[in-house]
Amino acid sequence: MLKVNGVYKSYGTQAVLNDAHLEIRPEVKVLIGINGCGKSTLLKIIAGIIKPDKGSVLLKEKNITGLAPEERRVGYVPQHPALFGHKKVIDNIMYGMRNGLGSEELLEDIIGMLGLGDILDKKPGELSGGYKSRVSLARALAPGPEMILLDEPLSDIDAAVKEKLLPEFRRVSKLLNVPVLYVTHDPAEAERIGDSFSVMQDGQVKSIDSAYQAFEIIKKDKLISA
Ligand SMILES: Nc1ncnc2c1ncn2[C@@H]1O[C@H](COP(=O)(O)OP(=O)(O)O)[C@@H](O)[C@H]1O
Ligand SMILES: [Mg+2]
Repeated sequence: MLKVNGVYKSYGTQAVLNDAHLEIRPEVKVLIGINGCGKSTLLKIIAGIIKPDKGSVLLKEKNITGLAPEERRVGYVPQHPALFGHKKVIDNIMYGMRNGLGSEELLEDIIGMLGLGDILDKKPGELSGGYKSRVSLARALAPGPEMILLDEPLSDIDAAVKEKLLPEFRRVSKLLNVPVLYVTHDPAEAERIGDSFSVMQDGQVKSIDSAYQAFEIIKKDKLISA
């Protein structure tokens, strides 16, 4: 279980997160919100890349708020993931396993499920966007994290490839049976990957019953021009 408790974060005078609460069981929880509402900020706080002004993050009942990113067992696929261009795919994927994290068995499962077996010796520059996304996900999962953060991982991928990738991403994300937080601003994508849904608005996270409800909420408040 992941718990975010009363998190606040401002940049200068702009309050981005304003008493944000969130709980995620081992499931795929989708977080939907318009551009600039604070989704990436929340993920970076859970990953330990930025510190909240106030509030806490608990993973498996342990307070991890003060821990550095490498001290948390959190797998993070950033919005624009950067693979190591000079390293082979396999070395990119195994990067997080350096300290004895993960296992050979898990690694093989991830590589198999994402269909990466034939490209392990390639360099990222030789891969399509879809394969780069798969490798980024594989790299985040290989150390066997206790939770997974995916920040709009398919936003640069064209629709046809996305159709193929969504079920793959869902299946492999569920392999570890840990909380997964998947960010998107696309309700259709959300509906296809999520077990449960929430919307970010006014610096807070609200649980909702369906991805389309998020769209209605956002539209009603005229936060987007529909
Ligand atoms: N390092 C930063 N310094 C100042 N403002 C920032 C910084 N990072 C994000 N912001 C601002 O905080 C708000 C939320 O950003 P972000 O969390 O990236 O939103 P989202 O991921 O939902 O698009 C935006 O208005 C953005 O401009
Ligand atoms: Mg973002």
